[in-house]
Amino acid sequence: MSTTGTILVIDDDDAVTASLALLLKQSGFASACVATPGEALEQLESRSFDAVLQDMNFTRKTTGEEGLALLIAIRERRPDVPVILMTAWGSIELAVEGIRAGAQDFITKPWNNAQMLLAIRTALGPGRRGGVEEPGADREELASRYDLSGVVGESPAFLRAIGLAAKVAATDASVLVTGESGTGKEVVAEFLHRNSRRRDAPLVKVNLGGIPRTLFESEMFGHRKGAFTDAHQDREGRFARAEGGTILLDEIGELDPACQVKMLRVLQERTFEVLGDSRPRPLDVRVISATNRDLERAVREGRFREDLYYRINLITIRLPRLEERRGDIPLLARHFARQAAREYDRPGLAIREEALQWLAARPWPGHVRQLRHFVERTALVAERSDLGLEDVRRTGMIDEARGAEASGDWTPPVGQMTVEEMERAMIVKSLGHHEGNLSRVAESLGLSRAALYRRLEKFGIRT
Ligand SMILES: Nc1ncnc2c1ncn2[C@@H]1O[C@H](COP(=O)(O)OP(=O)(O)OP(=O)(O)O)[C@@H](O)[C@H]1O
Ligand SMILES: [Mg+2]
Repeated sequence: MSTTGTILVIDDDDAVTASLALLLKQSGFASACVATPGEALEQLESRSFDAVLQDMNFTRKTTGEEGLALLIAIRERRPDVPVILMTAWGSIELAVEGIRAGAQDFITKPWNNAQMLLAIRTALGPGRRGGVEEPGADREELASRYDLSGVVGESPAFLRAIGLAAKVAATDASVLVTGESGTGKEVVAEFLHRNSRRRDAPLVKVNLGGIPRTLFESEMFGHRKGAFTDAHQDREGRFARAEGGTILLDEIGELDPACQVKMLRVLQERTFEVLGDSRPRPLDVRVISATNRDLERAVREGRFREDLYYRINLITIRLPRLEERRGDIPLLARHFARQAAREYDRPGLAIREEALQWLAARPWPGHVRQLRHFVERTALVAERSDLGLEDVRRTGMIDEARGAEASGDWTPPVGQMTVEEMERAMIVKSLGHHEGNLSRVAESLGLSRAALYRRLEKFGIRT
């Protein structure tokens, strides 16, 4: 891929600007180099650039305040020009602030030429965002620029999440995907990978909740034969398998403190060691993490390392609950019906409008996954292929019966109801069920008729 363009390089270190100018020239780019924020803004006023490569740490202050102020000034004047930040090693928090303030990407110094060029080409490439962030992108607009296959939804809450994912997909930034179980975190991880330059390399998914602590290193980094008693042969770790691609660190909130340290070291140094072989290997892997836990709270409570949190979470994508995107329920249900049609070889399978409406009004505590299972089970049980109201209702009733049985605890939360209120509610329910037949009501409640009468009077219930 050869892209040409003009890059503005801002750094107060002559050695840095000189070597970047050379690298850019060799790679077919034109560049202009300046040493101060003032000169940078002048340049931006007087001519046009395709991208800005900006240092965050000017010598006078090391806090990065000046760098941040410059970034904001550039974004105000030229919101269409992507900015890549250069940050000193270890100032990840500053980079995070920069990305939030609108930077396209960041590179840590000392940089690696290949990585630098990739960041620039990505910034100039077709997937580039550049412009001002529009909350809640348009589905069609997104679909014209990104591969949205398998990603269903067009409600504003969902498109905000996917729009953000689209924006960062092409960068190597680490992304944390949060949301309750079944909201589609894995779907988003796949979307990110499919829309990155790493799409032809593997996406390796690791469920960190499922790896025992004692096997963590061997599983993640691999081992050499003989590294420990049970190491009968060489084993490739998950990081090595993801080389050149993406790793999904799923359920990252489950990682215990000892493993958090090991993970941090690898992500920070971008190298890892295979057990039994102390030679560090470079890590060229994009990291996506996912969790259904409140990690910020875990950090506050000291259960999750703050430095690791910053490493994995340059960008957070929070997935909405299904209730926040009810408008997507019919779309999702149709999608799952089509899938079921293929899987069960029932070509005509479809859901009727009234059934879709019924589904859209129900609570879905298990979110998209629960909806999917619901549609699949309905399809399996129903004999006809246009699933109607009776079909979905039947599945709903089976679920309710099962749920009441399985949950064991059907009582309201503590503090919400007194025993008397429960008693009253149960009597009213039973009266309705038996249509006012007091003998049956008394029998179903385990009361004598006299005892029932006393309560009806006490609670002022009219029959
Ligand atoms: N937007 C979507 N479009 C299509 N299918 C979806 C979407 N979101 C979720 N699904 C489907 O719902 C199911 C659950 O999604 P996924 O596994 O991504 O959830 P999750 O958030 O990772 O849940 P958990 O926390 O339990 O791992 C999957 O079968 C997935 O294919
Ligand atoms: Mg998942």
